Parts: sequence; structure tokens; C-alpha cells
Amino acid sequence: MDESDILKELETIKKVAEEELASVKDASDLEKWSVKYLGRKGVLLSLTRRIPEFPVSQRPLIGSHINRLKTFLIEAHDKKSASVIQFASRGPDLNFTLPGIKPEIAHYHPITIVARRICRIFRALGFGVHIGPEIETDYYNFEALNTPSDHPARDMWDTFHLDTESGLLLRTHTSPIQVRTMEKIKPPLRIVAFGKCFRRDAPDASHSPAFHQIEGLMVDEGISFAHLKGVLVYFLKSFFGEDIKVRFLPSYFPFTEPSAEISISCVICKGRGCSTCAGTGWLEVLGAGMVHPEVFRAVGIDLQDMTGFAFGAGVERIAMLKFGIDDIREFFFNDERFLSQIGHVL
Ligand code: PHE
Repeated sequence: MDESDILKELETIKKVAEEELASVKDASDLEKWSVKYLGRKGVLLSLTRRIPEFPVSQRPLIGSHINRLKTFLIEAHDKKSASVIQFASRGPDLNFTLPGIKPEIAHYHPITIVARRICRIFRALGFGVHIGPEIETDYYNFEALNTPSDHPARDMWDTFHLDTESGLLLRTHTSPIQVRTMEKIKPPLRIVAFGKCFRRDAPDASHSPAFHQIEGLMVDEGISFAHLKGVLVYFLKSFFGEDIKVRFLPSYFPFTEPSAEISISCVICKGRGCSTCAGTGWLEVLGAGMVHPEVFRAVGIDLQDMTGFAFGAGVERIAMLKFGIDDIREFFFNDERFLSQIGHVL
């Protein structure tokens, strides 16, 4: 056998392989073809193995012809493979080489995401996360928080009463969790509490009868307003960004004294004044203060050495400011197009 014989043979192999490939209909036919021509015991390798039979001078040329055939077969195979895949995706056969269709993965509600982020910041400061019941007694929601039934400050919370006899109500804030925790755990303590709250507010862009709060409480010997300030400025900068400014103004809550209302510089206009901050440059985000001695008395904490601070914030409000949402009701419509936008931001 000499050079021209083998060239003829290669030509024939090419023709037959092409014809066979043309009649390949599915992935399994293609696989068989591939094994026959390109496999370890295939036609191509058996040709390569025959090279030493030829005189040394002819080997390079024969080798290059075989290589050319190999390139041709591989390219023909790949081209066919693409059309077989297309065919398979239309036909009933499953083709496992196709990239899959990504399933929709569920995600947390934006409020859960924001609350978890807030809790994560406080957890890093050593705060434990607590919860409490949404149906409360008058005692925990008001009395123990230095707000007896004749206290005018009760007007601050328009309450859903479940029935007058038992005094059961839907909690208007997460502050009852402070009381419940201090009854169970003796200070020093550091906790945050997250949960649903309810107020008899007519729904509009900034009010919802059901909403969420996050509460914080730190009690120890020698806790001062400076600790309150340090912790809250740290939290607000971690959450909203280092560049925000934080403002403390005097305020009133029956269960804290002194009390403060805490604002951040407007996240939209950076303090210049816009419609979000009603031209003031500031956005109120937290209520806070030093725990009132009456609250400690109600839970039996020795006033001699213990002091503490507490704070509360609306989670929807914080989420609205963080993501530029202008209507609180969006959180409750359960429109997946809205929910998934934020679900995938974080
Ligand atoms: N519970 C208060 C409210 O709902 C917020 C608050 C919490 C204020 C803790 C001071 C301390 O308005």
C-alpha cells in the first residue's frame, strides 16, 4: 500500500462518514457515530496506528491527511450535534445536554429581609433577638409601661381592643416585649425584638393598621444616654451608610425619661430639602429614651444600680427610606412584581 492508496481510502472514509452522519436523527445515533469514527477503537485512531507501516519519508504527509480528516469529522460532528439538540428540544425526547430552565426560587418578604438585616447589626453588638405575643393584655401593652388607664398618653396609640372585660388587645407596639423579657431575664441584658403591631389607623400612603416594629433594650449598671447615642448612631450608619447625619431631639414617651426622637439626614436629597422629607432635610426613624424608673419598678429591677435605654422603630418606614418606596401599602398588596424587586436587592 502506498501513499495514493491511503489517500483514496481516507476519501472513502470521509464520504461514508458524511453519509452516515446525514442519516443521524437523534443524540443516541450521534453517539454511535462518534464512537465509530472518533472513539478509542474508532476508524480514525486505527488509521493513525497504521502510520508506522509506511516509509519514513511518507509518514508526515499521511499524518497530515489523517489530521485533516480528523478535523473534518469533529467539525461535522459538532455541527450535527447543534441541530440534534435543536430537534430534541422540539421533540418529545429529553436532551440532558441542554442548559436547564432556572426554576423560580422563593424569597423572603422585604420586611423580613430588612428586619433580619437590622437584627444582624445588633447581634454583632451582643444583642439577643426576642419575640412576644401579638395579642397582649392591657398590663403589658400599657400599665407596666407607665401608662395607666387614665393616662393621656394612651391617645398616642389608637388601640384595637378585643374585648373590654379581659382587657385583651392587639399590641400597639413591641414595647411589651421589654417588660416580658425583664420579667424573665435579670440584667445585664441586651435585646432586640421584632414583630407585628396594630393601630386603628386608616390606611394611606404612610399608615397601615398592621405594621412591624423593631424594639431594642439595654440594661446594665451605669448605662447612660451616651450609650444610647453610640449604639443608635452605629446602627443607623451601618444600615443607611456612613455618610448620613443623625439628629436627636427631645420627645415624650411615658416609659422613657428623657425621651428622644431620632432623625437621619434625608436619604433622597442628602439634607437639602425635598418632598420625601417635607423640605426639612430630616427623616424621623426612631423613638428612644432612658428606661423610666416606673418600668423597672413594675418588673422588680433594683433601681439602685441599674439603668437602661430603649428604642423602637417602624420597619416599613425604614424599608421605605432605604429603597425609595413611597406607599406603605405596597408591603401588604402581595404583588409579586413589587416583592421580588426588593427580595432580590439584598
Ligand atoms: N414604643 C414606641 C412607639 O411605638 C417607640 C419607643 C420604643 C420609644 C422604645 C421609646 C422606647 O411609639
